Amino acid sequence: VTRGELRYEGKAKRVYATPDPEQYIVEYKDDATAFNGVKKAQIAGKGAINNAITVAIYPRLEAAGIPTHFIRQLSEREQLVRAVSIVPVEVIVRNVAAGSFSKRLGIEEGTPLPRPVVEYCYKSDALSDPLINTDTALSLGWATEPQLIKIRELALKVRGFLTPFFEQRGVRLIDFKLEFGTLASGEVVLADEISPDTCRFWDAATNEKLDKDRFRRDLGGVEDAYSEMLRRITA
Ligand code: C5P
Repeated sequence: VTRGELRYEGKAKRVYATPDPEQYIVEYKDDATAFNGVKKAQIAGKGAINNAITVAIYPRLEAAGIPTHFIRQLSEREQLVRAVSIVPVEVIVRNVAAGSFSKRLGIEEGTPLPRPVVEYCYKSDALSDPLINTDTALSLGWATEPQLIKIRELALKVRGFLTPFFEQRGVRLIDFKLEFGTLASGEVVLADEISPDTCRFWDAATNEKLDKDRFRRDLGGVEDAYSEMLRRITA
């Protein structure tokens, strides 16, 4: 598949057109950012690892009945995906209090949540992805009501699959972020990556962080943590 014009460049990925208007190429970069781009670094091999992790997970989600944009892996850093229009809403699902949830609500990190919490943020680098609710998304025309209902249903279905999937690999899935896209038909599909950049993973035995918080919080061992997650997922 030949790369066409660059359609989108984000902090961690580039999206290219292909000769088929219904397909895009996604390329994973080694660039890492935190605090909406204030903190930047290159993490060696991160693009290849996040690509490999996402490629390992997406077909399993499809098998679990979750429609996704994924078609196939093209190279170490590239995937072929279905062309979607990204819904500018980041969907966060939480099993355990951490990060911005802990900060906002004064709840200690690591406190298990008796039921999952689904949160929505507006995908905007300029505004640092502010928290919104579904009324905001509806009022501003970012998605229709049936699409938002489907997005919530799919997000919880992803959690239902991923939580035991990681548990079996000795990892607590604390929280994660999803993005969804719409096909020309309006059908909602899961898009974007699922990786240590977008999930919090804690070792089940030691609670050691195996995700991007190692970079955000200067804990060191970033590359090792990402490699360890890939090893556990593909073992
Ligand atoms: O920072 P916060 O606690 O809101 O993050 C919740 C989850 O969403 C974490 O797993 C984090 O990695 C992910 N996230 C993300 N992209 C963002 C914000 C959060 O992948 N822009």
